Amino acid sequence: MAELERVSTGIKGLDDMVDGGFPFPSVSLVAGGAGTGKTTFGLSFLTEGARQGEKGLFFTTLSEPTQWMLRYTNQFDFIDKDFFGDEIKYQDVGLLVQNEGYEELLDFIDDKIAEVMPQRIVIDPITVVGPFFKEEYRSFLFELINLLKNWQAVSVLTGEVSPGMAYPEEVTYAVDSVILLSMLEEEGSRRKYLEVLKMRGTDHTTGKQPISITTENGIVVLKSRF
Ligand SMILES: Nc1ncnc2c1ncn2[C@@H]1O[C@H](COP(=O)(O)OP(=O)(O)OP(=O)(O)O)[C@@H](O)[C@H]1O
Ligand SMILES: [Mg+2]
Repeated sequence: MAELERVSTGIKGLDDMVDGGFPFPSVSLVAGGAGTGKTTFGLSFLTEGARQGEKGLFFTTLSEPTQWMLRYTNQFDFIDKDFFGDEIKYQDVGLLVQNEGYEELLDFIDDKIAEVMPQRIVIDPITVVGPFFKEEYRSFLFELINLLKNWQAVSVLTGEVSPGMAYPEEVTYAVDSVILLSMLEEEGSRRKYLEVLKMRGTDHTTGKQPISITTENGIVVLKSRF
């Protein structure tokens, strides 16, 4: 059997858990509750690509101006700010989500990918779209994931998880891999974890692995070999 081509995830310690990285091409979901590290994951993933000369495209669904994102990335030493605008393009689709139909949004995303021709794509967070597209949400996700699979790129969709839920079920079925980020209260302090729920074609580590988020390195899987 031919080995799958892999790209580094950009998360320290994660590549060792997943046979070397995300399969290329593939579409993944990174799901977690508020503040578990979803955006940081997406930025690390794109930064790693930019370091290797790949182009990245970051879609935000949150209607946040570029300055907000830059202010956020400024806290992190591991993100090279010079990548933004050039190797990593930032695209706000918040207004399209709020004011247009899902077909317009899909067309816009497809056109933008054709323009930038990125090897890495992030959409953060995809779950925001749900309440706007209502009963069309599942069709939208299905078409979006198929659209992304037609490009020679590795895509990461982030998903917000509501309290009490492990992952947004409606997204997980169609993607190639699912990574869960979580926060648990233990002995009075909150600890953060990363778990690979599934990754097609990959003999991956199972179970929650403790992580830390630091200014120097972003997300780091603890107790890992690297
Ligand atoms: N400079 C920093 N140093 C250490 N930890 C940080 C730093 N910045 C953020 N964090 C940690 O990362 C978490 C936020 O990460 P991030 O914004 O990626 O999460 P998210 O899942 O995208 O959150 P949201 O639900 O707001 O979208 C914070 O809750 C904090 O614990
Ligand atoms: Mg976020």
